[in-house]
Amino acid sequence: MSYSFTVNGVLRTTEEDKPLLRYLRDDLKLFSVKDGCSEGACGTCTIVVDGKAVKSCVLTTKKAVGKTILTVEGLPEHEQEAFVYAFGKVGAVQCGFCIPGMVMAGKALIDRNPNPTEADIKKAIRGNICRCTGYKKIIEGIALTAAILRGDEKIDPELEKGDIYGVGDRAFRTDVRGKVLGTGAYCDDVEMEGMVHGSAIRSQYPRARVLDIDASAALAMPGVLAVLTAEDVPNNKVGHIQQDWDVFIAKGDITRSVGDAICLVVAEDEKTLEKAKKAVKISYEPLEPVRTIQEAMAEDAPKLHPNGNLCQQRHVTRGDAKTALANSKYVVTQSYKTPFTEHAFLEPECAVAFPYKDGVKVYTSDQGVYDTRHEISIMLGWEQDRIVVENKFVGGGFGGKEDVSVQHLAVLAALKVQKPVKVKLTRQESIRFHPKRHYMEGTFTLGCDENGIFTGLDCEIYFDTGAYASLCGPVLERACTHSVGPYCYQNTDIRGFGYYTNNPPAGAFRGFGVCQSEFALESNINLLAEKVGISPWEIRYRNAIEPGKVLPNGQIADCSTALKETLLAVKDVYEANADHAGIACAMKNAGVGVGLPDKGRAKLVVRDGIVELYSAASDIGQGCATVFLQILSQTTGLPRLLLRNMGANSEVAPDSGTTSGSRQTLITGEAVRMAAADLRKDMDEVGGDLAKLEGKEYFAEFFDPTDKLGADVPNPKSHVAYGFATHVVILDDEGRAKEVYAAHDSGKVVNPTSIQGQIEGGVLMGLGYALTEDFPLKDCVPQAKYGTLGLMRADQIPDIHAIYVEKEELLPFAYGAKGIGEIATIPTAPAVQGAYYARDHILRTSLPMENTYYSKKK
Ligand code: FES
Repeated sequence: MSYSFTVNGVLRTTEEDKPLLRYLRDDLKLFSVKDGCSEGACGTCTIVVDGKAVKSCVLTTKKAVGKTILTVEGLPEHEQEAFVYAFGKVGAVQCGFCIPGMVMAGKALIDRNPNPTEADIKKAIRGNICRCTGYKKIIEGIALTAAILRGDEKIDPELEKGDIYGVGDRAFRTDVRGKVLGTGAYCDDVEMEGMVHGSAIRSQYPRARVLDIDASAALAMPGVLAVLTAEDVPNNKVGHIQQDWDVFIAKGDITRSVGDAICLVVAEDEKTLEKAKKAVKISYEPLEPVRTIQEAMAEDAPKLHPNGNLCQQRHVTRGDAKTALANSKYVVTQSYKTPFTEHAFLEPECAVAFPYKDGVKVYTSDQGVYDTRHEISIMLGWEQDRIVVENKFVGGGFGGKEDVSVQHLAVLAALKVQKPVKVKLTRQESIRFHPKRHYMEGTFTLGCDENGIFTGLDCEIYFDTGAYASLCGPVLERACTHSVGPYCYQNTDIRGFGYYTNNPPAGAFRGFGVCQSEFALESNINLLAEKVGISPWEIRYRNAIEPGKVLPNGQIADCSTALKETLLAVKDVYEANADHAGIACAMKNAGVGVGLPDKGRAKLVVRDGIVELYSAASDIGQGCATVFLQILSQTTGLPRLLLRNMGANSEVAPDSGTTSGSRQTLITGEAVRMAAADLRKDMDEVGGDLAKLEGKEYFAEFFDPTDKLGADVPNPKSHVAYGFATHVVILDDEGRAKEVYAAHDSGKVVNPTSIQGQIEGGVLMGLGYALTEDFPLKDCVPQAKYGTLGLMRADQIPDIHAIYVEKEELLPFAYGAKGIGEIATIPTAPAVQGAYYARDHILRTSLPMENTYYSKKK
């Protein structure tokens, strides 16, 4: 039997009946067609079939017989150029993994309706998830493409060339073309001579003893190259900070979650791999899992790790909270619960490793190539520089790609079989494996005087960190240190505990613990305002931190602090809608801080008349690669055409830390500025003639020391900088989020288009956290699939107004930029809570909130 159809104008015939997605990618190498879930849920593989947008993973070669199929590669050039320009101009591209699918959904729409309305576009892309942008700019991008194709708008080729590339300019991102057209490579798009495939067999049970692993039948199959177990790993532990995570659960050992790998099968092709995985026989003795924090705390609980079930704890205290609260005019005590949340980045984890020089090289999708190198070196017991790690495009991370996931497995396999090996997680594996946002239970007591001035805070925070520590320590610490909010008061006593259970691990997720604790604090603030008899806006304004005042952690707020400006920016709109609007503030550190050696590094090389920038800072979609070039252009005065960002590669680029803690714009950005300033000085000496500097190198390291947590100084400096924000959420008559006003102080805005995109995407993530997203577990086993996570779709979005306030007074680093990555997600959920409270006076203390328009629609 053979199946024929036309793809991008060429008649194709295949004998195989398989998902069209696989045929387009594996046989025709059309890599614009992305594999985000293979379950028909995400839309990254959208193509046009006979004029209609279709998910290619649900269509098969058999069902495609006689059809006319179009992918981004087959679009006429003028249409490709229209999409590239429009998406770049409006800022529709972040991580980019959803973008070719969006383009094809847009293409099908524009062909049948050349002048679509906003509602038409929302409907056309409602089957396509974007986790980064909040959809607003994608909708604008499709509308602009349509206008260009109608002849109503023109492409300005100068915009992409980028002579306008200074700090504060709406610069065209460097990665737009590759991401829109699908020509830029993510890890799954990497093809290498002789490349083979690896995949892990994972535990059937959250907690079970592995009695036996019999791989003999699999190993006897033709095309099967190896089955690796714990015996093949020099040091069978990985972990971002604490090495408590078994690479493989060894025979005789006990599993800790359903994401645990028992062994890794390596085969010549994916079909053989799947068959071989089924042939491996693993026998278990199932054991009762530890499901909850309470079960983990029980005296007779099984010890999940050698040191017991308490993974991390923190005690953050200043002044005398007990006395302050006892003497307060008003006090509110309330308990809150927030759920595990799945990052749901569109690109599942993937890595390709191969023998290289006297060691190994690995292409990765991660948030820090040096972190990955470090974890692999511990596992192998090798010197770090024998391992080279290079980022390909990263299809979203949001904290979920800080830990190694597949990189170390690909490395082990590549070393074993001495060939390039690709290891990629299925969507369900990804959901089971990578660390989530921590589940929290917390009780918060906040007091104030008769004027609503805060007097003290006492709180106890419990985190479920699941099977492994991941980043439990620092995430719990930020939850504690930021539970005080961006206000000016002293007297705090905050106790945080993170417990191991047999649930999937929890770790870093945009907001880094602060989403949980600020939801609780900000909700308590509304209750206090009610007692005092002032508005939720007023109580925040009265307590808001200002330059020169002391934060509850003792740090003196710096000159750039503009929380009050963000409150003023939304005052009128809040007050005009006060009976159905909620308001919340937040602060978030930029930079890792707390005494850690948080260094930014950059190297510039003048080569062939171009300035090459080397800095291993992962751009996970937020756009730091472009921001660095803007800082470089601003400082040197050179146009974009003469600048090139060489990407994150541990062999050639200096370590510039993890993409975490909203740190890259400030910390690495300042290192880039410093190196660029040196180059500029030399350029001035040679009359601006770059050719005269051919071969010269400029290196800079930026480090602004901070004090460690609990430092015995009167005003410890915990962080280099803080961003501040106020969000207002307005509900409509039915209780839908209709509008969100998100006012941000992120210091100097390097790229206004990018910061709006970060705010819009962050707000939508916060709305999902508040209203629709959940991660149900049954006896420690995740019940969600990608399609049931509750991710918001394009036709559900409110009108998000991204506002940024810029002060005259700025910090002396990176032109005064402070970072935006995380804070945009933090105040939204408590603002939603406040809006519902204003409307019906019911305090919703858990997320996703119950008894809302959205919960009723489920
Ligand atoms: Fe849409 Fe990242 S840009 S998922």
